[in-house]
Amino acid sequence: MSLLSVLSIVCGLMLHVSHGAPNTHYCVPRRTVPYHSELKLFREEGIFNYSTMLMREDLGVLLLGAREAVYALDVDDVSVRKSAVYWRVTEEKQRECTYKGKNAEVECRNYIRTLHRVNDTTMYVCGTNAFSPICDYMTFVTGQLRLEGRPEEGKGKCPFDPFQRYSSLMVGNDLYSATSINFLGSEPVVLRSSDLALRTEFKSSWLSEPNFIYMDFVGESFDSPDGDDDKVYMFFSENAMEYDFYSKVAVSRVARVCKGDMGGQRTLQRKWTTFLKARLDCSLPEPSLPPIVQDVFLLKDEQDWRKSVFYAVFTPQSSLSQVSAVCAYHVSDIRNIFNEGKFKTPVAVETSHVKWVMYTGEVPVPRPGACINTVARNLGMNRSLDLPDKTLQFIRDRPLMEEAVRPLTGGPLLVKRGALLTRIVVDSVMALDGRRHTVMFIGTENGYVQKAVNYAGEMFIIEEIQLYENPVPISALRLSARKGQLYAGSEFGVTQMPLSNCSRYDSCVDCILARDPYCSWVFATQGCSSVHGSPPPPPGAAIQSLEEGDVTQCPRIDPAAAVDFTLVPGNNIQLPCQLHSNLARVLWRFADRTLRSGKKYYIYGGGLLILGATETDVGRYSCDSVELINGRAYNRTVAVYRLRLDPGAAAGAGGMTPSNSTAGPSAASPPGPAPNSEDPPPPPENQSDTGKMTRLEVAVALLALLCLGLMGVIFWTWTHGRTMGCFKMEKGAGEGDGKRQPAEYVHIRNRTSEIKFLGPQPNNNHSAVDFKGNGEHRFTPMANISSLDGLGYINDESEI
Ligand SMILES: *[C@@H]1O[C@H](CO)[C@@H](O)[C@H](O)[C@H]1NC(C)=O
Ligand SMILES: *[C@@H]1O[C@H](CO)[C@@H](O)[C@H](O)[C@H]1NC(C)=O
Repeated sequence: MSLLSVLSIVCGLMLHVSHGAPNTHYCVPRRTVPYHSELKLFREEGIFNYSTMLMREDLGVLLLGAREAVYALDVDDVSVRKSAVYWRVTEEKQRECTYKGKNAEVECRNYIRTLHRVNDTTMYVCGTNAFSPICDYMTFVTGQLRLEGRPEEGKGKCPFDPFQRYSSLMVGNDLYSATSINFLGSEPVVLRSSDLALRTEFKSSWLSEPNFIYMDFVGESFDSPDGDDDKVYMFFSENAMEYDFYSKVAVSRVARVCKGDMGGQRTLQRKWTTFLKARLDCSLPEPSLPPIVQDVFLLKDEQDWRKSVFYAVFTPQSSLSQVSAVCAYHVSDIRNIFNEGKFKTPVAVETSHVKWVMYTGEVPVPRPGACINTVARNLGMNRSLDLPDKTLQFIRDRPLMEEAVRPLTGGPLLVKRGALLTRIVVDSVMALDGRRHTVMFIGTENGYVQKAVNYAGEMFIIEEIQLYENPVPISALRLSARKGQLYAGSEFGVTQMPLSNCSRYDSCVDCILARDPYCSWVFATQGCSSVHGSPPPPPGAAIQSLEEGDVTQCPRIDPAAAVDFTLVPGNNIQLPCQLHSNLARVLWRFADRTLRSGKKYYIYGGGLLILGATETDVGRYSCDSVELINGRAYNRTVAVYRLRLDPGAAAGAGGMTPSNSTAGPSAASPPGPAPNSEDPPPPPENQSDTGKMTRLEVAVALLALLCLGLMGVIFWTWTHGRTMGCFKMEKGAGEGDGKRQPAEYVHIRNRTSEIKFLGPQPNNNHSAVDFKGNGEHRFTPMANISSLDGLGYINDESEI
């Protein structure tokens, strides 16, 4: 390991420990929807790895490939299995596989990795088949899935190794695949299996230990002024050749080939003559190695392919960082770089050392890597076979473009700290005003889906939905816009969720502040419901305020009714208050005074704890939610309590009943431990030292500065403080307990089992209201981790 990587690890680790780094511009989901059992789930006992999906809306099924099984599931309800086929490895295959040193029960099985549509009734399916890939046709006729039993060689179409990433695409009858073609996984290819099979050259300048991620088709021949061809775009990461680095650095790439490519006549025979690649840029707000592309989705524009956009998820290359990002790229921007950009060329600087620099010499005509277009045809070249050797030799040796593809917004659309993002799908939704909004559904490594939207440059996560009870990575996502459903695969099964559930918002203010383009508030029904419901609401009957989050049109609501509560001097009192949003801050008031956590009060995510109540605590308490949307604060009272003196102690009168019995049991609840032992608040000793900087932290911060300085000498670093266009949670949120409140809430949950009330006797601990602190608004804690996850990298190919 080089000195530099050691340094990077030391510094990274050190910063890892540091607390108090402001992580303001990392999107926090407004709402967290915990796992609930109404989600539709499919799984079969003993079957795992449900990670290949093919949507067949025309057949009403979602085809699901797992380990040694393919299922046809009802698109309306994936828990309904219409048919299944099992495709197991033979004992002989399994034995061969184990002889080669692979694990019989894990690797030497048949993982279904490829599922493509061939025609109305037929699919093409491939599996790893105990490190001996195989393909077959499969039909779905009269509700029955059936393997045709016409096995074909799967080498190059499907990986040998079930753990290796790969991608493939069916265009007409041609299968495009990007995978390894050998047992060891060391010979990567981009292959077209067709009457005229083509592949990439085995050269590290073409592909260097790639991780293939995604492929899609863009019909660029349509309406093309220069007679251009259709293209297949592919996304992967590989070892960088353009950086001078002491150890291997990976970069993300986009590459493309032309559909009409037939290879060269002498040079590049049976190889792509149109394989071009470029670096994908998606720079994180913090200095780091280039992030790695993990998944891509093409949001197609049906009218104009130029407006189609690739959305890509990136995660850090260093495991020290927990920051993921989404960047989006215009097809036309990528195309311009390939069609007009400069090439890179290798130059030998020392013996055995090669540097890639910008090519400044003459570029042959027809342009290397271009599809057969009007220029070529005018020169009498109608097929790639007719291309001159000069053009072909040029492209064989220089497949890399000089310029990187920049995201359409200049930087990431979304930056998320915490559990890494894994998969993405994107929907385009028509809002009430007829405008379209792009909604991203992003899977995470801990079983959640983040639903995010961009309003005028501001990224906003509407909600995060927990799809799996256990924190499993989402390994596949499919979306049916027509059905309004999302399907998420994992090791343990596939779950289905609606793209929106407007009924979760029970008030007009909540419905509007959710800013969900699928939802609007309907005056007549006094409910939040889908914009796409039938019949659609007549104009003026429903409201939405997506960009503004403006609630002024909402009907005035009556102030929350006060709940009466009896105070017994010496007791601890719990006053619950649940906020509807993770972005909201809680504000407790007592007799026109704002309460803060301290010796007397403890404010936590579930409410307020008054310690050792006395007669002076009698009076009116209110709990306000202060939510910042678009820089404006929305204040609303969520709960009001009226504390009175224990009538028994004070006047000897009869017990008091609460004025609002639905809010829970009255003060007369039987003495004993807290009614809901699930969520007793912690004693005040457990309060976090928010805002305080310990001496250790100061020391760590100083060391961090030192590290940064050191790195700065050697590495080019990103500028800090780019505007991420994300909701800045802490800005203007004031200081004190409210700010940290959601995270503390979780701490409380995690700590409940250990909490013992040492001071007051258990039966002194009354709760005013049956306390259901585990409501819908749980917050996923975001680790307070390093602000520097790795190193910058050199991008100085121009200066040799
Ligand atoms: C669908 O494709 C399969 C495989 O190529 C072929 O055998 C079958 O005849 C086709 N069916 C239709 C309806 O075109
Ligand atoms: C398949 O699922 C099993 C069980 O969860 C897991 O251990 C294994 O890593 C998975 N294999 C692949 C190739 O994803």
